[in-house]
Amino acid sequence: MDTQMLINEAVEALTSQIDDTAIIACSGGIDSTVAAVLANRAVGAMLHCVYVDTGFMRKGETEEVTEMLSDLGLNIKVVDASDRFFKHLDGVTDPEDKRKVIGEQFIRVFEEEQTIIGAKYLVQGTIAPDWIESGGGNRDTIKSHHNVGGLPEDIDLVVVEPLREFYKDEVRAMARILEIPSSERQPFPGPGLAVRVLGDLTRDRVATCREACHIVEENLLAAAADGKCDIPWQYFAALLPVRSVGVHGDTRVHGETIVVRAVHSLDGMSAHYSPIPHDILADISTKITNALKGSVNRVVYDITHKPPGTIEWE
Ligand code: XMP
Repeated sequence: MDTQMLINEAVEALTSQIDDTAIIACSGGIDSTVAAVLANRAVGAMLHCVYVDTGFMRKGETEEVTEMLSDLGLNIKVVDASDRFFKHLDGVTDPEDKRKVIGEQFIRVFEEEQTIIGAKYLVQGTIAPDWIESGGGNRDTIKSHHNVGGLPEDIDLVVVEPLREFYKDEVRAMARILEIPSSERQPFPGPGLAVRVLGDLTRDRVATCREACHIVEENLLAAAADGKCDIPWQYFAALLPVRSVGVHGDTRVHGETIVVRAVHSLDGMSAHYSPIPHDILADISTKITNALKGSVNRVVYDITHKPPGTIEWE
């Protein structure tokens, strides 16, 4: 069936499924955005979109995403919950514990919004690999998905999943027809920069990682636009709690370490590190240490494939 027909059918199904106020958590990711646009076409103002700012977004991301969502005609509310996330993550350094706390707090914030709005329906951007890989029925669990949007089963809402039978390439095709600009964005994990800041999650350390990620993104995009390298499938910086001695002018600095990661992959299940030319890496390194004088004095490049590494560091 062609993509326009899939869209028409999905909108028709949503129109008959939803007859009261509905809510959707939107992060700007392709799946939730496509689900929101379809539901909005079906029920218009009955759909309320909620964007939760956890404090772990990339530079400018909250502004860009919420502008994009309102340009798509969605009724979007931004909830700044960063104080709450930082408070509950104080002293939490284990990666799985971080994901657990973030998931729990996300649910609390979302439940509060649901009560305020009085929603009866929950629209979710679940796609086929999400439930196939997470197990259920007689399937084995391949990998449990830790999406910030993952909500508990006992939530008092009727769950509607318009993309449940579709795969990523089909959702991308829908996004193009629906003119959703995020359709070619690189993947970004639900817990955001929280899993790229190893060790303590302080506002300062997250800000350091945010700036380094921005420098990596900006420089690789510019290098690709100049034809100097291919654009990797995913590319970012992570902050390591490893201090080393460095020097700025005449001053000794005891700063932390940024690792730059760039990989080629088809689906994230396996990956090859990207052979970024050394002059581009050197430029990124200089820009990071200049911008983050005092907090970062060493930049390293990760040349590990997946497996045995993973793409993220946590
Ligand atoms: P790993 O690090 O497991 O990542 O090789 C594979 C892909 O999944 C993304 N990722 C996540 N996405 N919630 C998400 O929504 C998560 O907790 C999470 N952890 C990793 C990662 O960025 C990569 O694209």
